[in-house]
Amino acid sequence: MLLFSNIFHKLLIYKHLHSKFHSILFQHFLSAILNNSPIFVLSFSPTFLMKKAIAFFNTDTDSIMKLLENKVVLITGGSRGIGSAIVHKMASNGANVAFTYRSSAEKANAVADAAAANGVAVKAYQSDASSFEQSAELIKNVIADFGRIDVLINNAGITRDTLMLRMSEDQWDQVIETNLKSVFNLTKHVLRPMLKQRSGSIINMSSVVGDFGNAGQANYAASKAGIFGFTKSIAKEVGSRSIRCNALAPGFIETDMTEELDEKTKAAFLASIPLKRLGKAEEVADACLFLASDLSTYVSGQTISVCGALNC
Ligand SMILES: NC(=O)c1ccc[n+]([C@@H]2O[C@H](COP(=O)([O-])OP(=O)(O)OC[C@H]3O[C@@H](n4cnc5c(N)ncnc54)[C@H](OP(=O)(O)O)[C@@H]3O)[C@@H](O)[C@H]2O)c1
Repeated sequence: MLLFSNIFHKLLIYKHLHSKFHSILFQHFLSAILNNSPIFVLSFSPTFLMKKAIAFFNTDTDSIMKLLENKVVLITGGSRGIGSAIVHKMASNGANVAFTYRSSAEKANAVADAAAANGVAVKAYQSDASSFEQSAELIKNVIADFGRIDVLINNAGITRDTLMLRMSEDQWDQVIETNLKSVFNLTKHVLRPMLKQRSGSIINMSSVVGDFGNAGQANYAASKAGIFGFTKSIAKEVGSRSIRCNALAPGFIETDMTEELDEKTKAAFLASIPLKRLGKAEEVADACLFLASDLSTYVSGQTISVCGALNC
């Protein structure tokens, strides 16, 4: 056994020195070309030089782009808008992706096919995030299909906007159940497997509206404000097991949800955004990538606003 590990150790050192030696020679070769000086390393085969050249120029972008290699990410509401941008962002960074939708099966399948072109496993599940039972079933199915869940992104959300005097009990309940109870449902069922793994990242999609309120959105603002308290509490409860929980607070992002706003309201919002434009779903997905990846291992219990300075 000792002999075997000795040989293995020597092989590793040899491999390390060998590749170091080749890369030093290759750098001499490159600088010889760049300085127009005579080239002394012509004995290298063209294939070797081509491979080294590709590796030399690709190393940085490869390591930056594959932040989630071998991770499994579950996203609720991935068939449209911000959720579908997150599916693409996670898949293009090497994650295997499970995502849900409520009713738009055709869109969900198209998102799954496009994301799978990144060479990762992607699967869409029809599952109502506001249902406790369906959420339990979903987590069970995703673990059966993918083996584990490293990142949960509670993104599913709806609006039922109207002034308080006109708001029905049903409009209140629908928004609270889809936007806030869903976060409880999914987190509750994913925590046990994450606790066993002793790792995990949970990201909850809130909104700047949860912080400063909005006339005609008391139900929506209440659901998003609830997410802030929930996020901090979970971060405190499970931080000792290396499970992180953070929230994102987008401002006004171009999706079907904001498409519903009338032109006057949109113009008023636009005037109040210091960056003078609506945000893009991809820009929210970028912040999500940060919180999902090991770039944020010491970030928990926080809210990151992605709002063009609207909240300043
Ligand atoms: N757009 C913004 O400006 C903005 C700003 C701040 C925060 N946000 C938040 O960001 C999240 C995404 O918003 P968005 O603009 O991308 O919305 P969107 O375009 O309307 O898409 C909503 C997504 O959620 C899914 N969904 C809705 N109810 C669901 C349920 N009960 N179970 C499972 N999935 C459900 C939808 O599935 P189907 O396609 O099947 O309906 C769809 O995939 C929401 O939480 C929203 O509150 C958005």
